[in-house]
Amino acid sequence: MCRLLLFTFSTVVFSFSPAVFSQQPSPSAVNSPPASEANALVVNSLLGLPAVPIPINNPQTPAKVNLGDKLFHDKRFSIDGTISCASCHDDNQAFTDNLPVSVGHGGLTGTRNAPTVINAAFYKSQFWDGREPDLEGQSKGPFINPVEAGLPSHEPILEIVRTDPAYQAAFKDVFNVAGKQLTMDHVAKAIASFERTIVAGNSPFDRFYFGGDKNAITEQQQRGFELFLGQGRCVSCHTLEQDHALFTDSRFHNIGIGMNAVQDDVPRLAEAFLAAKNQGGDVDKMVLTDKKASELGRFAVTDGLSEIGAFKTPTLRNVSLTAPYMHDGSLKTLKEVVIHYNNGGVTPATAPVNPYLSGGIRPLNLLDKQIDDLVAFLEALTSDYYPKTQVADSQTGGRHE
Ligand code: HEC
Ligand code: HEC
Repeated sequence: MCRLLLFTFSTVVFSFSPAVFSQQPSPSAVNSPPASEANALVVNSLLGLPAVPIPINNPQTPAKVNLGDKLFHDKRFSIDGTISCASCHDDNQAFTDNLPVSVGHGGLTGTRNAPTVINAAFYKSQFWDGREPDLEGQSKGPFINPVEAGLPSHEPILEIVRTDPAYQAAFKDVFNVAGKQLTMDHVAKAIASFERTIVAGNSPFDRFYFGGDKNAITEQQQRGFELFLGQGRCVSCHTLEQDHALFTDSRFHNIGIGMNAVQDDVPRLAEAFLAAKNQGGDVDKMVLTDKKASELGRFAVTDGLSEIGAFKTPTLRNVSLTAPYMHDGSLKTLKEVVIHYNNGGVTPATAPVNPYLSGGIRPLNLLDKQIDDLVAFLEALTSDYYPKTQVADSQTGGRHE
């Protein structure tokens, strides 16, 4: 790969081909920056994190990040002017909504729990089922999803950004485009660049494990960490590397969430889903509007029967801030999560094990005290600082409603 490309402005039309990633040069490890620096170009080398992967066809620039910030918070890009990305990924709620499943325009509910945007920049695929390869692709979906922003097409957004003087100036400055040259690819690139600045590391665990500060976490949290690595086998999916930890293997597993509601119906459901998809059905719409289709998980993307009910392993960073848990928001607390694993992938303990359950999920025989230790460990993964953006213009505010 040609490293020089990184520093040249690319006017190539955005494409969904597998992204070629290149890493920015890393400044020396820093402590968490203050909130006022949330829009720093790339927050790199936070303790415990690798450098943020930046696609070569979408290099970071301060102006692009600011533009993305504005777009992320603009409620005009929705059918009734009430929904922005930040409605469900609220800066003040660790970039999530703390609801079991999200609420879009007109109070419509979707089928899935909103993951945080913090550290989404590191995922190898986006969404619980990984149906989008990158942040650029991801960001186009919510605008036209019937239970999110609810627009019939992307046209109304383009109309705004092509005519609003502030947007006109910003897109001209950042991408050197105007009028019809300005497309959703530019909007998507700016939003993705902004999201690549929403990263947070340097948690007490990072200072303990990577920073060598033996007192950074409590003794109970240290016992929990031992269980995470050992008897709990959590680390087999929520992985750690030598010099950083994303707590995800970027793979998809059925860990027994949501399946019990549909499992008797799976063959019929799977067949009906494939038929609809083959007739041109939009997977994004189908999985977010139909509760049963949602439970098919990764199968909806790959058509692979072995991936029924399998979802992406989420990062565990800042997990104490993002309740409720799992793709359907069905587990309210971290303790409920650990009990679910301890039961061998069922909630409640008496529920039947689903036939598609991952081989990696078995009863753990943890004592109550050990369950508490594991929960305490998960609480050590909270960054002292996570980005809070400042949006001055009230017209484009979308942060607290
Ligand atoms: C109505 C609520 C809602 C709105 C509005 C919304 N999202 Fe989301 N977001 C969700 C939900 C729910 C998911 C999970 C959907 C799934 O996995 O199928 C999600 C997933 C994501 C992810 C994937 C994260 C991961 O862990 O895989 C990113 C990134 C994201 N949204 C960014 C955005 C951006 C950018 C916008 C604005 C263009 C936006 N969202 C608008 C609710 C919302
Ligand atoms: C076989 C792989 C696997 C193992 C082993 C595993 N996890 Fe998970 N974990 C996942 C997947 C996949 C999800 C998302 C599942 C879903 O939503 O359907 C998840 C979700 C979670 C969540 C919820 C995160 C969120 O944002 O909603 C927590 C917390 C969690 N796991 C902690 C643990 C702990 C603690 C252990 C060990 C006791 C563990 N995991 C073992 C794969 C695994």
